[in-house]
Amino acid sequence: MPRLLSSLGIVGVALVRALINPILPGFNPDPSILSVGSNYFIATSTFEYFPGVPIYHSTNLVDWELIGHGLTRPLQLSLLGTPSDAGVWAPTLRFHRGVYYLVCTTRYVYTPEFRLFPRSFYVSTEDISSGEWSDPVYFDFLGYDADLFWDTNGDVYATWTGINNAVDKIYGIYQSKIDLLTGDSLTGDKLIFNGTLPNDSTSRPEGPHVYLINGTYYLMIAEGGTGVHHQATIQRGPSPSGPWENNPSNPIIYNGADLSLAVQSTGHAGFMQAADGTWWGSCLGTVPQSGNFSYQQLGRQTFLFPVTWEEGWPVINEGRPLSLHMGGILEDKSPLSSYTNGFTSASLDNSFYFVRNPYKAFHSLTARPGYLRLKANGYALGDRDSAAIITRKQTSYEETFETILEFFPTTNLMEAGLSVFYGDMMHNDIGITGDAVGSGKRYIVTRTLVPAQQIGPWGLTFSNNTATTTNHYELKTTDQPVRLKVIATSTEYILGHAEGRWESFEYLETFSSVYMTVPPTGAFFFKGASFALCNTGNGRSSSSPADFGYWKQIPSN
Ligand SMILES: *[C@@H]1O[C@H](CO)[C@@H](O)[C@H](O)[C@H]1NC(C)=O
Ligand SMILES: *[C@@H]1O[C@H](CO)[C@@H](O)[C@H](O)[C@H]1NC(C)=O
Ligand SMILES: *[C@@H]1O[C@H](CO)[C@@H](O)[C@H](O)[C@H]1NC(C)=O
Ligand SMILES: *[C@@H]1O[C@H](CO)[C@@H](O)[C@H](O)[C@H]1NC(C)=O
Ligand SMILES: *[C@@H]1O[C@H](CO)[C@@H](O)[C@H](O)[C@H]1NC(C)=O
Repeated sequence: MPRLLSSLGIVGVALVRALINPILPGFNPDPSILSVGSNYFIATSTFEYFPGVPIYHSTNLVDWELIGHGLTRPLQLSLLGTPSDAGVWAPTLRFHRGVYYLVCTTRYVYTPEFRLFPRSFYVSTEDISSGEWSDPVYFDFLGYDADLFWDTNGDVYATWTGINNAVDKIYGIYQSKIDLLTGDSLTGDKLIFNGTLPNDSTSRPEGPHVYLINGTYYLMIAEGGTGVHHQATIQRGPSPSGPWENNPSNPIIYNGADLSLAVQSTGHAGFMQAADGTWWGSCLGTVPQSGNFSYQQLGRQTFLFPVTWEEGWPVINEGRPLSLHMGGILEDKSPLSSYTNGFTSASLDNSFYFVRNPYKAFHSLTARPGYLRLKANGYALGDRDSAAIITRKQTSYEETFETILEFFPTTNLMEAGLSVFYGDMMHNDIGITGDAVGSGKRYIVTRTLVPAQQIGPWGLTFSNNTATTTNHYELKTTDQPVRLKVIATSTEYILGHAEGRWESFEYLETFSSVYMTVPPTGAFFFKGASFALCNTGNGRSSSSPADFGYWKQIPSN
């Protein structure tokens, strides 16, 4: 049994010990874990959100702080026009001789008919707490989930997920030696592993990580696709390229073997050694609500687990499946906390995201002190472009989100409010709009989206794969602020409003969390739900700013 607590210096009297998962609240897929002395880091995927790749830091594996992002400048990450769930995939975070390396892939083109594979790259920094990373250095190969490995003789290897051939869609783990300075390949793309699963299109060997431990090379990968059959397997061999000896205990992570477990879709793992010599790993997992995969609106989250070694193979959580509560280790402390922002500081903290890059700043905390002011542009939330929207991850299945809005639209196209937001094809909104004649009259507008039904043999396209229901409710006042609220339960969201500062809430719409989980035809579900504030001109530019007075996000468990 690992005894990390004492050795990490947490000297509690009668602390209840338990590792509480997921350790990073909100969607945080594809975690890459790294130790540098007694500092621990995790980087995760962000898809079409900007900035890209959050970096979390901890010194005790219990308290994790978001210290910044790896991709903060348009030169590193330019997402304009990027489809939902393309964008930044699966980082690898590494440290070598005083330098941190963040390896990433950005999928700019992700329409199935093009079948284009992306280029991977890395950015680097000597000071990870500065949040300033270098310009990208691109690799030559086509592929994603790239990993960097430094051999003892100075050779640097990139290892990634590539396509075997254009016929059978069996992916493979590829590798080449690279020139680290330029990113250029020094050798050809070499197929080093096909994975452990039978040859079919669901085998999906992905997410490779190469390690050298006690003179033996290890190759850890994800397999089975990122859904119910997701798993982690490990090989070992005499070189970074194999040949590989299969771990007889594979898969070493596979909660999908028992579909009654609370945690599912576990995989995409990596590990590290802590300062006290103990080993730990991270992977992604989901927590389907009511045991139903149609209700996992928080998406893929980051799980931590202890690792021990037996006969030169890593054993995950003593061979038991991963769970939400692992007794006997670390500290029984929820990673969740309430978040209130009165918008009194001059800049937004790290926990907020734009959807794709803003063309220019559309938010201000100084234009009207004490308020977050959003200036609308012509794009709406359903557009594959850069609407005036600011998101923050939903952190718990049961949570409330509330804001207060001052907004005085002069047309029926101007609309500002809040959204339960996933991406341009999955969002459900409540806001304020005006009327067509500009009388000053205001309405609450709600908009809920469901996947469109295919009728007949013709296909649905990205432009008609959702069906929207829009409702209007006339407001009594033309000059009062309006409070807007979402109550999230494990299987539903409830949208409400209150006119003025003190009135009680009236709840107008309830929609199923299925519509924040199950994507419409042709779309994907790789992220998870966020809450958002937005202001749109719905196709026209707009002169009416939206002033939000606070952001209150309260998880209830
Ligand atoms: C992967 O599978 C292909 C096709 O069966 C085979 O030619 C190749 O040798 C395999 N590669 C490895 C590294 O196992
Ligand atoms: C996988 O199976 C298909 C036939 O279903 C075959 O054409 C292909 O060569 C196989 N690929 C590998 C990598 O074994
Ligand atoms: C590495 O080797 C040392 C010395 O034999 C041993 O104590 C340690 O447990 C080994 N570590 C791993 C991860 O196998
Ligand atoms: C899961 O939820 C969906 C959507 O409500 C429903 O259609 C399906 O029957 C449920 N599945 C199970 C196994 O209960
Ligand atoms: C969706 O759009 C495509 C392309 O315009 C069209 O062929 C199809 O009929 C549309 N489907 C529906 C259900 O409207």
